[in-house]
Formats: sequence, structure tokens, C-alpha cells
Amino acid sequence: MDKIVITGGRRLEGTVAISGAKNAALPILISSILTDDWNTFHNVPDLWDIRTIKRLMTDLGVRFKEDKTALKVDAGGLNSFEAPYDLVKTMRASVLVLGPLLARLGRARVSLPGGCAIGARPIDIHIKGLRQMGASINLDHGYVDAKTDQLKGADIYLDITTVTGTENLMMAAVLAKGSTILRNAAKEPEIVALADCLNNMGADIQGAGSSVITITGVKKLKPTFWSIIPDRIETGTFMVAAALTKGDLKIVNCVPSHVEAVIHKLKQAGVVVEKGQTSIFVKGPEQIQSVDMKTFPYPGFPTDMQAQFMVLMSIASGLSVITEAIFENRFIHVSELQRIGADIIVSGNCAVVRGVPQLSGAPVMATDLRASASLILAGLAAEGTTEVSRVYHLDRGYERIEEKFSALGAGIERVRV
Ligand code: EPZ
Repeated sequence: MDKIVITGGRRLEGTVAISGAKNAALPILISSILTDDWNTFHNVPDLWDIRTIKRLMTDLGVRFKEDKTALKVDAGGLNSFEAPYDLVKTMRASVLVLGPLLARLGRARVSLPGGCAIGARPIDIHIKGLRQMGASINLDHGYVDAKTDQLKGADIYLDITTVTGTENLMMAAVLAKGSTILRNAAKEPEIVALADCLNNMGADIQGAGSSVITITGVKKLKPTFWSIIPDRIETGTFMVAAALTKGDLKIVNCVPSHVEAVIHKLKQAGVVVEKGQTSIFVKGPEQIQSVDMKTFPYPGFPTDMQAQFMVLMSIASGLSVITEAIFENRFIHVSELQRIGADIIVSGNCAVVRGVPQLSGAPVMATDLRASASLILAGLAAEGTTEVSRVYHLDRGYERIEEKFSALGAGIERVRV
């Protein structure tokens, strides 16, 4: 079990390149299940979650080959339809194999993912949509057991704008008989990326990025060459790091239009942000101003940036109110931030943050992926040493983050314990 040790108080400056987006790579790699020959993907991030999905897909009979620049995936030999609990429990995104397996094999037996640190995270909307498309689904012994002779198009209203729900149903629909409409669909950039990749495979998907997506089923998909979009949450994380340390960062290989809500809030807090075509310049001010924030589905402020923004508000000039409107339990990082000297009071899904002049380093424990990123950020801003344990949470979604921060002047190192 590694830990990350940070000596805080140093300004970050220089240039950092953003890696491929975990939450785009996962559904796009899984979409290979819909094809029967070699697909080639570029800019796939080197993350624990990517290794997990490769293990799961290998167990389904999918083959992988990789070199320095590309990951190749061939589902021609798909010979199983079961995603076991021991893998699904470590990564909820595994439920995304449901739709493609049903579309390709007419059969899927996928463990219910169970809850996680940030909430119950049910998949009832995924299941309701698949049933509307003609799948017969039983839930028994902790598994979703689904079968169909042929999925058929349906007009589906999503009660909640679920990201993976939209992705699962989109992938189920591409080989269905007839047209499917997804209403109240999620609009995240990762949804658009998946739709673009599927259309490059020969699918017929219109409206991705809006709340109404229409998928007209086709007979067969062909393999593709595709590049994963940059990670907007990693982009936001480095923007906050620059703001926190009065730093001066150039963030490259990113998509500024994917982080507009974060840019807006950082500017309100007094941070200088200038957008380029594929880069963002961020300069931290002498004093951060307090700003209220509420998480919201895209294009609102992303819930995956809530913890990072809370760290910034913990050294701001006054009081800010942060509202988490997506997940029911996404303030676990608060108690760890309090150990580092943050003054935060939680009431329901609101956290009231009273800015303090200085955070002070302390040993803390990561609890989930984005919370662990916020602890690293707090350590960078704090006076003294911060030790973050259980960094396997961090490794799920950030590619060599301590190396990237160290190259920007941070006092940070990974220690094997
Ligand atoms: C995706 O999770 C992301 N994961 C999450 O990122 C992200 O926080 C989340 O979207 C919100 O943006 C991936 O893309 C792999 P939801 P997802 O379904 O799809 C409720 C990270 O750190 N809901 O949009 O699981 C649900 O409980 C992760 O990379 C139902 O009630 O989130 C939640 O309250 C963390 N029933 C809300 O909807 C359902 O069937 C939004 O969840 C589905 C969802």
C-alpha cells in the first residue's frame, strides 16, 4: 500500500499535459464488444480502472495487444457473458458491459455493482430501459440476469440523467431492430465521445450531447481507429492546484470547452484563466475569494470536481456554501480536510466552508477517487508535511499524478509502505 508524502507551500509553475479521460476510455473500450475484429485506440490512460476492465473483458474472451502508442482490442472470440462480482465490486463502470453483451450475444449475467463510498448508486434506470427494449431481466443472487432474442427500438425516458445509464442504453440500441429514443439523456462530453466512436464503427446515433438522443439500429458494426478525449476532471484538478499555490500553469492537451463551469467558478474566485484552442493558462491570485457552488449534470459544475473546489474555498476570504446535488454521500473528504485545518460544517447535502488563512499538513486517508485528489491538493497548499494513505483510490483515475506535480515544482513523492 503506497502513500504520498507532500511538503506544502510551494508555487506550481510550468506546463502539464492532460491524459486521456478515464470516463471516456471505459465505455469506448467496452464498445469493442459490439465488433468482431481488431479496434485500435490511442491516448488510453494508464490507470488501475483500465487494467480492471481489460481483465474483465479478457475473461469474456476479448483479446488485447498494446504498444507504446496504441491499445488494440478484438472481441471476435467473445465466448462468455458473465461479469463476476469480484471484478464488478472494484469498479462500478463494469456494468457498462450489460448493453453490449445483450446486443452482441442476446445474453448477459452481470453482478449488481453494489454501493460505493459516495452513494448507493443503483442501476434501476439501466434495467428499466433494457426491459423496454425487450430484454427479460431477473435480479437474483446479486446478479442481473438478462436475455433477449433481439433487442428492439423503444422510446425511453430516463427518470434521472444518468451518465452510464445513457451509455449502456446507447450501446444496447446500436444493433437493435428499429429506432430508440433516449429522452432526458446525459449530455457529458464522454457521451458525445462514445457516440462519435460508435458512429465511426458504422452506428447511426444523432443528438448526443443534447437531452434527446436517437439511435437507429444497424445490422453490424465494423472495427475502428479512435483517440480518447482528454480528461476534463484532471484538467480541473490542475487548474485548482495552480489557484491554490498562487501558481502559474500552462495546461496542454485539454479541451477548454469541457471545463467552462469550472473556469467560470475559478474566475469568480479571483483566479486568472485564459483559454487557448487546446490549452488553458491559470494564474493563482494572492487571495482567493469565497464563491458558492452547486454540482449539476453537464454542463453544470461537475460533481467529480466538488472535493477539489472545496479545498480551494477552504483558504478563501470568507464563507462559501457548497451543495452536492448528484450523490447522497459525497462529503467523506470533509473530515480529512478538517484534519488539515479546514473549517467546514456539513448539513445534509450542503457544506459551509469558512476560509482560513493557512492549512496545516497532517496524515490523512483517501476514501474515494476524487476525494483523494482533494487531499493531495490540500497538502500542496498546507504548511508542513501531509501524508496521504490508501492512494490506490488515486491510481484508479489519475495517471502518475505525483510525477506530474513534482515536475511543476511540488514537494511530493510516492513512498512504498
Ligand atoms: C458517472 O457515474 C461517472 N462514472 C462518475 O465518475 C460521475 O461522478 C457520475 O457519472 C456523475 O457525473 C463513469 O462515467 C464511469 P450517474 P454514474 O448514473 O454513471 C443516480 C469518477 O470519479 N442513479 O450519472 O454511475 C445515482 O445514484 C466517477 O470517475 C439512479 O438512481 O453516475 C446518482 O445519484 C465517480 N439510478 C445520479 O443518478 C440509476 O439507474 C447520477 O448518477 C443510475 C443512476
